[in-house]
Amino acid sequence: MRGVIFCVIACAVILAVFSGRFTFAQYAKPVKVPIRGACQTCHKAHADEWLKSAHARAWISELFKEMSDNYEREECLHCHAPERLLDTGFGKEPKLRDRTREGGVDCSACHADLKGRMHGPYEIEREFHENVKNEEIGTVEMCASCHYKFGTVSEFKETKWGKDPKGCVECHMPKVERPIGEMPLVEKKYPVRFSRVHTFRSVDDIEFVKESLKLEAAVDGDKLIVKLSSINVGHKFPTGFNVNAAVIDVSLLDGDKQLLSFKHLLSDERPQGKDTRLLPEETLTLSYPLEGKKGTAVVRLLYKRPKTLPDEKALELLKVEVPVK
Ligand code: HEC
Ligand code: HEC
Ligand code: HEC
Ligand code: HEC
Ligand code: HEC
Repeated sequence: MRGVIFCVIACAVILAVFSGRFTFAQYAKPVKVPIRGACQTCHKAHADEWLKSAHARAWISELFKEMSDNYEREECLHCHAPERLLDTGFGKEPKLRDRTREGGVDCSACHADLKGRMHGPYEIEREFHENVKNEEIGTVEMCASCHYKFGTVSEFKETKWGKDPKGCVECHMPKVERPIGEMPLVEKKYPVRFSRVHTFRSVDDIEFVKESLKLEAAVDGDKLIVKLSSINVGHKFPTGFNVNAAVIDVSLLDGDKQLLSFKHLLSDERPQGKDTRLLPEETLTLSYPLEGKKGTAVVRLLYKRPKTLPDEKALELLKVEVPVK
């Protein structure tokens, strides 16, 4: 807890220093990082997905590099380049590994044990590596090893999804059917099984956002009513580390001319300020005076990391327009 408070203060100071240098482009495309154990040889689909995920960027992230003082702050490193979780046990913070740190939260961190066996959902006879059927893989407890720290897990436990032992992966790793292994050099075909998508869907997956948050706008007399509803978000929006924030950006436009402009911040500003984030299943209703002006009201939901990013560089999650006659 002391660590979090320390970080809140320290990070606010650091953030003030380097706003405006980051964009979301880095969050959308796959990265090139090494994978311990060359899992991609036989699990190409999983590897291609994972390379697009935040877990693959956990170490090389420019923002992380800056905020950890170029990897000098010891207390920041272990969750961003963890050793095998199965060594320390789920629910406990992992240890920092000493090699291939660029790989971030990699395959081995989640699946491998000390003996090099791979833990997963299936009972599979030895095929290239030994496999262990482990019901704990994919539990909230597993994700909590790292995600407990910034409140996401305790927020989740308060929701209607909170009792599902696999709640996080049900939303973040949807199920598909496909072979889960392949051997490019051998004829052998593997069976189609249930498998979970490894992109760890997040704000950069716009479809996921559209299924989960709803933005509406309507004119009522001389007022613009804006509603943001959390439909399928199993924690606050945004959640996690308080470098994340969202903004509801409202403008009344007449052609290119901006007649009115309003902003509403969704952010955890504690301890100095308030926590204004959207709660699970909450509908936030905002009302803005139109002052008799006419044009088109444009309402956008923006996401920023870090929150000091200027609005022009934010990721646009949702947008609605209504004529004001
Ligand atoms: C030389 C090929 C090969 C390599 C390299 C390889 N695997 Fe596998 N893996 C397989 C095959 C084959 C299966 C079983 C596929 C099947 O029967 O459906 C498998 C199954 C698995 C399973 C499922 C286990 C279970 O019991 O549910 C996991 C998890 C896994 N591998 C993770 C990894 C990870 C992590 C790495 C890298 C550290 C890796 N594998 C490297 C071939 C490989
Ligand atoms: C070893 C620590 C660790 C474990 C275990 C872990 N994560 Fe993460 N996770 C991270 C880190 C660190 C990041 C931030 C990476 C970055 O963007 O730099 C992250 C990012 C994410 C994100 C994307 C957040 C964003 O900002 O876009 C999602 C979603 C996520 N994790 C889901 C999960 C789920 C689901 C599980 C359990 C199956 C899990 N994580 C297990 C450390 C972990
Ligand atoms: C009911 C679906 C649902 C459940 C359950 C859920 N999430 Fe999410 N999560 C989302 C959606 C949708 C987003 C994208 C919108 C957002 O940013 O909140 C998201 C975003 C995130 C992010 C990105 C940070 C951010 O800005 O919000 C992290 C990290 C995360 N989830 C972790 C978790 C973990 C860990 C669990 C389990 C304790 C979990 N989620 C449970 C739907 C869910
Ligand atoms: C943050 C933890 C995490 C990381 C990182 C991760 N996985 Fe997984 N993996 C899971 C979870 C959770 C499941 C699903 C378990 C379940 O459904 O019971 C899974 C399932 C699997 C399976 C078996 C069946 C399926 O769902 O497809 C294979 C194979 C696999 N992962 C390979 C990989 C490979 C290869 C990588 C790296 C490219 C990787 N995983 C990275 C958490 C992770
Ligand atoms: C207990 C594990 C843990 C520790 C320790 C930790 N982080 Fe993280 N970090 C996470 C997780 C999980 C996420 C992703 C979800 C979120 O935003 O909460 C994350 C996300 C981040 C992000 C945003 C994603 C990105 O890479 O752009 C930054 C920056 C970051 N951490 C910096 C730090 C710094 C600086 C420290 C040390 C003060 C630190 N972390 C210590 C687990 C950890």
